Amino acid sequence: MSVVLNVAILASGNGSNAENIMSSFKNESTVRVVCVISDQEGSFVLQRSKKFSIPCYCVSKISGESKISHECRIVELIRNHGGDFVLLAGYMMVLSSYFIGEFWNHKLNRANIINIHPSLLPKYPGMNSYKRAYLDRANSGVSVHYVDSGVDTGEIILQETFDYSDCDTFEAYEQKGRTIEVRLYPKALKIIHEELVSC
Ligand code: GAR
Repeated sequence: MSVVLNVAILASGNGSNAENIMSSFKNESTVRVVCVISDQEGSFVLQRSKKFSIPCYCVSKISGESKISHECRIVELIRNHGGDFVLLAGYMMVLSSYFIGEFWNHKLNRANIINIHPSLLPKYPGMNSYKRAYLDRANSGVSVHYVDSGVDTGEIILQETFDYSDCDTFEAYEQKGRTIEVRLYPKALKIIHEELVSC
């Protein structure tokens, strides 16, 4: 039986990871990007998805709206497009346990929600991770992990590291990480797909 991951991408900004996923799987039958959703008006990720003719939406939180109501609108959109997996690609909102429950995989006891994070988790969770690690003169890396209800705390799927001493400037340091991100997210999705095929 063929297994297809029908993924919705959630992103808040530039969208280089989102574009990389759309591009990496555009001619493959393993992962199908069903839609791209941003919570930020005018974010560049929406332009990027148009290049691939993938439906894209801005679903921003209305002033005074509850987090659950905002997430409900996102979940509905994902469901309408047949999405059963969620990929976070620079999505800056923390997901509630309601949202996580909506994509819970009872068989595998984890959510079908994946995130890429710019650090070697559990180090430097949260925002500005490359910057904080660089200022500490720390080696760093990239993690792809399942999402749980904590902030960047879910089970790790893949990690790759790089050395502080290889980088003369912050720009070079960040670029090292970005280069790893491009490789790591598609690789992690292939691992997930193989796992689903075999179970
Ligand atoms: C990426 O570096 C990603 O790892 C990071 O945001 C950036 C998004 O860039 N994610 C996080 O910090 C999540 N906590 P992009 O919009 O160009 O893909």
